[in-house]
Amino acid sequence: MFDLDEELRALKKSGLFRRIPAVDARSATHIRINGRELLLMASNDYLGLSHHPHLVSRAAQAAAQWGAGSGAARLVSGSCALFDDLEKRLADFKQTQAALLFSTGYMANIGLLSALAGPGDAIFSDALNHASIVDGCRLSRAKVSVYPHADTRLLESRLRRAGRFRRRIIVTDALFSMDGDIAPLPRLLELARTHDAALIVDDAHGTGVLGPQGRGAVAHFGLEDPDRLIIMGTLGKALGSFGAFVAGSRVLVDYLVNRARTFVFTTALPPADAAAALAALDLVEQDAGLRERLRSNTVFMHRELRSRGFDPGGSQTQIIPIMTGTTSIALAMAADLMEQGIFLRAIRPPTVPTNAARLRLTVTALHTRQDLERAVEALSKAGRRHGLIA
Ligand SMILES: Cc1ncc(COP(=O)(O)O)c(C=O)c1O
Repeated sequence: MFDLDEELRALKKSGLFRRIPAVDARSATHIRINGRELLLMASNDYLGLSHHPHLVSRAAQAAAQWGAGSGAARLVSGSCALFDDLEKRLADFKQTQAALLFSTGYMANIGLLSALAGPGDAIFSDALNHASIVDGCRLSRAKVSVYPHADTRLLESRLRRAGRFRRRIIVTDALFSMDGDIAPLPRLLELARTHDAALIVDDAHGTGVLGPQGRGAVAHFGLEDPDRLIIMGTLGKALGSFGAFVAGSRVLVDYLVNRARTFVFTTALPPADAAAALAALDLVEQDAGLRERLRSNTVFMHRELRSRGFDPGGSQTQIIPIMTGTTSIALAMAADLMEQGIFLRAIRPPTVPTNAARLRLTVTALHTRQDLERAVEALSKAGRRHGLIA
């Protein structure tokens, strides 16, 4: 039908065809593929919580009590106490008046942006924002101005020159998912204030990781502005569960309940996921050791990779890109590493811009020093073989 085959052939020819790896078993740090145990350096389970017994048992209890699925959207068959508890906890965690759960981060972003903005509004979006933000901008039908990555000067001049719009929104990843750098949030909030805009911060990768008690990037910078700041976060990364939320003012949440189509017209996430997220918040708030281990693993990895001559770009965090430029080198490196027992994916366009292919390495709190040393050794061998380092 159509010319799908042809398009797939073209993808294969340019090294952009993707396949889902079949996996026999997985922990936070290891993965088994075809009976072979590999060191996993490619997950977003940054604190290793997805397999934590506290999360697993709370999820099992919730499934026994509430069932495996939610059965309908919350506006159709009502909420469940776990959702209400989790929303209160998330609002406290993010220090906002209220929070609203969404079934995924993707849906949170497209629901939020398309509910808040429409024709006659303007959205200013960082060039490296996640695909769900890009799609939310498109779906909103607002005028979208994509500013070069983290370039607040250019953003300022665009805001100054922008014509008359009903609403202005600046939207940014907090911790960029493919680059590991942190957005200049204090300056973005200043610009939002000066130009009467809202600031949406997608803290998918900072939640649980950055700031006091893992409250995220906004807390990391000590920012507060209940009228302008809207925080989106996910439960499926450092919090080890599944789902997402938007945190902000009470009026924003009431508005989203009525206007965000990805909240209204979709089945609520399974109650077990909410129970697991509640358990994760207990651990994240109480156990600073988890974050300390992640931090020290991150520092170790950055230092080692730089000393071997790799280029981790502007990363300051647990997400460490190893820039290869071409897709073919990224693919060759990933295959070489797989041979050496390390699972690390090649990230290619359209996930990243053309000529910005890379390996996306992530460290977790549960990686041991030996795990990290093994990964560095394997990367160095592969890097030399494929001309990435001398
Ligand atoms: C920055 C960012 N926002 C949103 C999402 C989407 O979240 P989810 O996986 O819950 O759909 C992701 C990753 O998946 C992400 O990296």
